[in-house]
Amino acid sequence: PLSRSLSMTSLSGVLPAWEEDELPVEDLLLFEVAWEVTNKVGGIYTVIQTKARITTDEWGENYYMMGPYFEHNFKTQVEGCEPPNPAIRKAMDSLIHNGCQVGEERPNIIGHFHEWQAGPGLILARSRKIPMATVFTTHATLLGRYLCAGNVDFYNNLDKFDIDKEAGERQIYHRYCLERAAVHCSHVFTTVSQITAVEANHMLHRKPDVVTPNGLNVKKFSAMHEFQNLHSTNKVRIQEFVRGHFYGHLDFNLDKTLFFFIAGRYEFSNKGADIFLESLSRLNYLLRVHRNDMTVVVFFIMPAKTNNFNVESLKGQAVRKQLWDTAHTVKEKFGKKLYGALLKGQIPDMNSILDRDDFTIMKRAIYATQRHSLPPVTTHNMLEDSTDPILSNVRRIGLFNSRNDRVKIIFHPEFLSSTSPLLPMDYEDFVRGCNLGVFPSYYEPWGYTPGECTVMGIPSVTTNLSGFGCFMEEHISDPAAYGIYIVDRRFRAPEESCNQLTQFMFSFCQQSRRQRIIQRNRTERLSDLLDWRYLGRFYIHARHLALSRAFPDKFKMDPMAPLRTEGFRYPRPYSVPPSPSASLHSTPHHSDVEDEDDEPYDEDEEAERDRLNIKPPFVLGAVPEGKKK
Ligand code: UDP
Ligand code: G6P
Ligand code: GLC
Repeated sequence: PLSRSLSMTSLSGVLPAWEEDELPVEDLLLFEVAWEVTNKVGGIYTVIQTKARITTDEWGENYYMMGPYFEHNFKTQVEGCEPPNPAIRKAMDSLIHNGCQVGEERPNIIGHFHEWQAGPGLILARSRKIPMATVFTTHATLLGRYLCAGNVDFYNNLDKFDIDKEAGERQIYHRYCLERAAVHCSHVFTTVSQITAVEANHMLHRKPDVVTPNGLNVKKFSAMHEFQNLHSTNKVRIQEFVRGHFYGHLDFNLDKTLFFFIAGRYEFSNKGADIFLESLSRLNYLLRVHRNDMTVVVFFIMPAKTNNFNVESLKGQAVRKQLWDTAHTVKEKFGKKLYGALLKGQIPDMNSILDRDDFTIMKRAIYATQRHSLPPVTTHNMLEDSTDPILSNVRRIGLFNSRNDRVKIIFHPEFLSSTSPLLPMDYEDFVRGCNLGVFPSYYEPWGYTPGECTVMGIPSVTTNLSGFGCFMEEHISDPAAYGIYIVDRRFRAPEESCNQLTQFMFSFCQQSRRQRIIQRNRTERLSDLLDWRYLGRFYIHARHLALSRAFPDKFKMDPMAPLRTEGFRYPRPYSVPPSPSASLHSTPHHSDVEDEDDEPYDEDEEAERDRLNIKPPFVLGAVPEGKKK
């Protein structure tokens, strides 16, 4: 009864053909093993955490994840419980009493291992001939990451590296061997994008069997405008922080200020912070010479070694709070007097409604806002201040938050948290409040950060060297119109990529508020494409394939099933010009008057017209022809 006929898919980033009947998982156990289970380092944590829901929907209590035990993570992220399955209970007992012998009744097991850290489990399981179907997923290759970080022209030399030698020279030979052994021992080898599949073929000498693009749990709001409201309320919170940070220098209009950000692990050139800084200096120049009245505040959220927040940043927020309290006190007194006068049927004398004390506390508060230094570039005391790559480059390009700079920089060298005394916001809320995420990575197997922006309806910049960028390019006709700007870092020289990025940001600054709102609506419409409910099927496919290879008598795949590689595409939006830069020429009146932007317009009507033009992803590829009702 376990025998199933499954159709094959090609190694492509598009949805595979699928049989609608699924595997009876009662007779199976699925283990997923990764260093980032409950342990946040970067995007692998996001894969594991966001995918959990659809995997438990399918596997229920037969799904187990294994990760490192860190007391703090255990206490804050999971609930302790007794394993419901006796076999698991036994295995755990025996693990505790050294050794790992499991019980008499053996269900078929799938072991899914992520990255080289989990590799030894896979390698030992195979060498000890444990009857288990194995999947190995890599989210990068060790060597690829190291070579790219070392400023090598990686993509033009993929086939020329002496990989053993390179691994040895970088002192990662042992880890590289573990990675390579796990790759070659697995029944099914997968990776997160087409570009990393090519890389893996060269760096690990095995072509992945399946590409498993990374998804997200997409939150759908019942009302279309709800995510726009969230943008607005979170933007107000960021504006408050900026008021404090720039106290005494708040000579720019916050209503005409855009918030850009880059976030992620601090790999300076791999994450493209180098070309971002260079482009910001060019953007600053362009905004100045064009006398553009927009200001751009750019956040760098990348954890570095620090010795806590610096005094100047904390003081900024304290000063802001004090001004707020002062205004509140004076307002209360003013209100009471006004009320009293109105009760008597009088209009109060405006010249005496504020007394001397009021003026004194206001003067004192204003005096506290005077500062003799520029608003700080970084919010923390950096341990390696003089050699830090972001700070060194800020010094080189001279973006020190001076009054005439149109681009201001705030480097927050710590991941965000709602419990921070400085910027008390979770990452998600922060992203929602920003206008543009900028992720011009050079090395990025997938790159969750721009995808997370997309599902929250926030436009972002990515590159054609990131798995995400390539995936979006494949599915969207005019990505920029949908708020996905893809910098060409593959076929252009760095100087040209930098100019392209500058141009993207400059055109973004030239959009009117109304254009930004329309663009956010379109961005948000791409969410379906990134939902695990669709992308999860690549993982399902990988598991089926592993079963058919490990237990060929019980699980069969039909190699003759037709290849269905056609994906789904988001065509150019129907209702608007192709991209913001082009739209500037065709609709100049939009960008002229910011006040005009607040005119009401029918978002839903606009959305409806576009929707008619979009083929929803679930129509294609999900159900094979013969099965359609
Ligand atoms: N992230 C976070 N807090 C922050 C900044 C980033 O939790 O302040 C998360 C972000 O949500 C994303 C992950 O870090 O899920 C980075 O993943 P990505 O795939 O972009 O890069 P990686 O670090 O894995 O190379
Ligand atoms: C959302 C809100 C609008 C607000 C806008 C600000 O769309 O619904 O009320 O004006 O955000 O957008 P902006 O691009 O200027 O941050
Ligand atoms: C790795 C990659 C990143 C990817 C993540 C999840 O950490 O650097 O690009 O998004 O894994 O697959």
